[in-house]
Amino acid sequence: MTPASILKNLASRGHIVGPREAAVVAAALAEMRRGGRAVPGVLATGAPGTGKTALGELIAELLGGGFLFAQLHEWSGADELLAGVDAAAAVAGEAASVRRLGILAQAAEMSQRQPTVLVLDEVDKASEAAEALLLDFMQSGRASVAPGRHVVARPGNLLVWATSNEQRPHSEALLRRFRRLRLYPLTRRERIDVIAAQAVVARGVAATLDRLAEYIGEAEGAPSSISERVRCAADLAAVAESSDDIAALAAAWLAREQAGEAAVYSRRGRQLCDAVFAELVMARGGRRAAG
Ligand SMILES: Nc1ncnc2c1ncn2[C@@H]1O[C@H](COP(=O)(O)OP(=O)(O)OP(=O)(O)O)[C@@H](O)[C@H]1O
Ligand SMILES: [Mg+2]
Repeated sequence: MTPASILKNLASRGHIVGPREAAVVAAALAEMRRGGRAVPGVLATGAPGTGKTALGELIAELLGGGFLFAQLHEWSGADELLAGVDAAAAVAGEAASVRRLGILAQAAEMSQRQPTVLVLDEVDKASEAAEALLLDFMQSGRASVAPGRHVVARPGNLLVWATSNEQRPHSEALLRRFRRLRLYPLTRRERIDVIAAQAVVARGVAATLDRLAEYIGEAEGAPSSISERVRCAADLAAVAESSDDIAALAAAWLAREQAGEAAVYSRRGRQLCDAVFAELVMARGGRRAAG
């Protein structure tokens, strides 16, 4: 797949990426096709809500093969990544099913049958020791499941998409094994397109709601994410019958602190809620007239 076709394909799924992201994804897919011993990987970083996880999931969809997902956390370790013990089977004395494959071993196994994308979400939440377990896997596709026993990924059939909020620095060794892709927040225009498409609301509703969200974000010193805006837009399209309802839902989705809530109910905030409601009424009127 060329960068241009990836860009088009993602856009048709409602996901906006630029040429930089498309080039990195195309390169990872090309490495996959070459089928070397190392596992092709992308480490997506960037602020919350910039689409790090969503992009990995979409690439799996694009490839149309197998998909595995693991959200890493403080306690992630060898049992979760390589192989562990199924406590229930152990207690029941079912020797054959006592060993449970960890996510890397499962991915290696799945890649024997079909092209597979493994999303390792929030790698920065795992310990450095857990991160170290990824190193040999990325280099050789080998996951150790018992002393002297490995499951090996099929060359050309596995892609690892890792995400990180960079709450701690990653090891040099990990960084060497992944293409790094930093994702940035969308522009205002792109945001409005995404809100309108994903919440299925008129562009005018999306644009006024986005303005309200920005105003609340300024009061709080931190903007709400695009997914909060999408869900707010979907909620208000479903139930809002007054500007008061818009304010209540804006406070629920777009304000995190009292300062944000105060902004919703300030003079300017109420004007913006009125504007959102006016757009909503217009869109509903238009739909009724069309129907
Ligand atoms: N570029 C984009 N195009 C379209 N939608 C997007 C884009 N970026 C984010 N979104 C929307 O925002 C939602 C949240 O994105 P996602 O959860 O992938 O962000 P994230 O970077 O993984 O955040 P976190 O750091 O909180 O895990 C997506 O499901 C999608 O609806
Ligand atoms: Mg995420």
